[in-house]
Amino acid sequence: MGRRLSSVAVVVLLGLVLAGSAAGPAWAAGRCGDHPWCDTSLSADRRAALLVEALTPAERIGLLAGDVPAISGAAGTHTGTESGVPRLGVPPLYLTDGPIGVRQGQATAFPASIALAASFDRGLAAEHGRAIAEEARAKGNDVVYAPTVNILRTPLWGRAFESFGEDPYLTARTGVAWIRAAQRAGVMANVKHFAANNQEGEQGPGDELIGSRYTVDARVDERTLREIYLPHFEAAVKEGRVASVMCAYNKLNGPHACENRTLLTRILRQDWGFKGFVLADYGASKHVGTGLRAGLDFEPFPYVDFDGGENLRPEIVSAAIAAGRASQADVDRAVTHLLRELFAFGFFDRAAYPDDESQIDRPAHLRTAEEIAEAGTVLLRNRSRTLPLAAGRLRSLAVIGADADRNINGGGSSNINPYSFTSPRAAITTRAGSGVDVRFDDGTDLARAADAARGADAAVVVVADAATEGVDKPCLGLDCGAQRGVQRDRLIERVAAANRRTIVVLETAGPVLTPWRQRVGAILEAWYPGSAAGEAIARVLFGDVDPGGRLPATFPRRERDLPTAGDRRRYPGVNEVVRYSEGVLVGYRWFDERGIRPAYPFGHGLSYTRFALRNLGVRRARGGVGATVSVTVVNRGSRAGTAVPQVYVGLPGARGRVQPPRQLKGYQSLDLRRGQARRVTFRLDRRAFSYWDTRRHRWEVAPGCYRIQVGQSSRDIDARGALALRGASCG
Ligand code: BGC
Repeated sequence: MGRRLSSVAVVVLLGLVLAGSAAGPAWAAGRCGDHPWCDTSLSADRRAALLVEALTPAERIGLLAGDVPAISGAAGTHTGTESGVPRLGVPPLYLTDGPIGVRQGQATAFPASIALAASFDRGLAAEHGRAIAEEARAKGNDVVYAPTVNILRTPLWGRAFESFGEDPYLTARTGVAWIRAAQRAGVMANVKHFAANNQEGEQGPGDELIGSRYTVDARVDERTLREIYLPHFEAAVKEGRVASVMCAYNKLNGPHACENRTLLTRILRQDWGFKGFVLADYGASKHVGTGLRAGLDFEPFPYVDFDGGENLRPEIVSAAIAAGRASQADVDRAVTHLLRELFAFGFFDRAAYPDDESQIDRPAHLRTAEEIAEAGTVLLRNRSRTLPLAAGRLRSLAVIGADADRNINGGGSSNINPYSFTSPRAAITTRAGSGVDVRFDDGTDLARAADAARGADAAVVVVADAATEGVDKPCLGLDCGAQRGVQRDRLIERVAAANRRTIVVLETAGPVLTPWRQRVGAILEAWYPGSAAGEAIARVLFGDVDPGGRLPATFPRRERDLPTAGDRRRYPGVNEVVRYSEGVLVGYRWFDERGIRPAYPFGHGLSYTRFALRNLGVRRARGGVGATVSVTVVNRGSRAGTAVPQVYVGLPGARGRVQPPRQLKGYQSLDLRRGQARRVTFRLDRRAFSYWDTRRHRWEVAPGCYRIQVGQSSRDIDARGALALRGASCG
């Protein structure tokens, strides 16, 4: 990134220096020209106001929407284009998908967002964001539609792979790191989908979807919204300083998200102080005046609507104004939001980004993708050290499953056409070396696959699920949905019966059922690993690298254990209303509060070494609510590895206010050599101890005893402490 980034920095710096040194107007070395609004010594607000004044009403209306009606994903095209105003030198704005890589011709396929979250590593989240922004920029884009931060409320969600999992704290930390790094690379991030866009819809008996994202009304109570579904958006705004927010298709407590005044104005702008622009998901604008007044600013693709909606195309906006349903003032406010952010971000004061992908350092990005894939791979089970495979002692290895030969990724706007891809089969064969007999069987014939496994030193079964934007998975088993007829569960059973050293490699969008887990030697969850899938999986299997991942979502034993199961009002909704009546008990909060044993808990992930957490220290912050939690992490095994100590806080409950037994409030990923010990410190701020008070409509800290739990997963707590707050005691 060094050279390219520094050229932006130089332009920006030059702008600042010029701005600082001259008493009068200062002109950036960009493309703005010498118009009054090009004076970089003025504030972004002032510059936007000057430009809006200079634009004709029709030109302002024209800036509300993108101008290219089709999205092809082809090289040289963009996911959104606003042509600007040539008369006044307002440059065109180019926007692209998305959270896992750039959807514009070929690109590096980075590990899916859920894999990134599984790394529990803010540094890698920044690497992911930076690299994707660099590719977006090298392909001429100013905005990237990412990250997706919606909470994984049900693992059936078709976009599970695009989420950062089920926890708002992990999602917020991952999202903020991603956004900051992407924006430092010169591209405006667009956090999505605001808000409560947690399902695509269940496939009905015909073509219809039940609880479709386009029509469903998510009914979420105030506390649940603030504690579970909004904190990561809030962090994106306040800490990430995200340039833009994408409003979602669904309704939230009545109005559509893109015309929801509570959401777009009261919460986003007034409570959080958002200064950027709100854009609508693909065709999510519903009524011109209502949307603009609620806080929608821009619609990049105004040529589709999914529910009889009214787009922001100029002729539609003009008609709405003529009919008195919208006003020029509504338009001006929206355009001001857009332009103000473009000025603030330096968009006018730099040259256009050329669409020239020779600027992309593909080998470096492939290495980044590989590193993240390794760090996000979760070792769920490892009976009697089945893994790592000992390359020196291995004579034969069976690789089983057609999925070992395929590039597994999610469908929809995050489906990347990769520059390169190495399959697990190819990389395992290479890594095993010429002295090892590596046999492959595609697993379509169960008896034949079992034969291939029998007698091999170990059998690696690679199995994937199928998930896509647009429709949820019908069930949580591996043989679900588009996968029907393939019998992956039975394949695993048969191979495991034939070979005791059976290793299952999962490439799934999120949690799946693992009914065979006790019968296999080891299980690795690799998610959708992207371009470097093969290398990452092979390196973890052979122990070249420790599996660094921990689960960002609970793996249930049975589908009916899910918080959304068994009540169609909760999922997929009845009459297009979905009630979030499980409240704050989402994911592990539900399993913990109800005492349900999961297959693999949130935060779980084994290492090839062993860690101990010792000497927990809890110190109250001086002045104000907060605490410092420290613990010594010791590598007690015989090799280097990655530890992920996690801090959970149990808040005191009250009548009418259920509190989950523990909530994640701190974590760190650290590499420790054999025998190495390191003291790690977590700073818990006031928010870590706060709940949303629905009477006062604000965050409050209740008097009481707060349980501090430090462990290696949400169910593997090594050390416990307590902190009394607000005059209470811990008896
Ligand atoms: C998705 C967005 C995406 C947009 C453009 C929509 O269907 O929900 O996440 O950015 O398409 O591809």
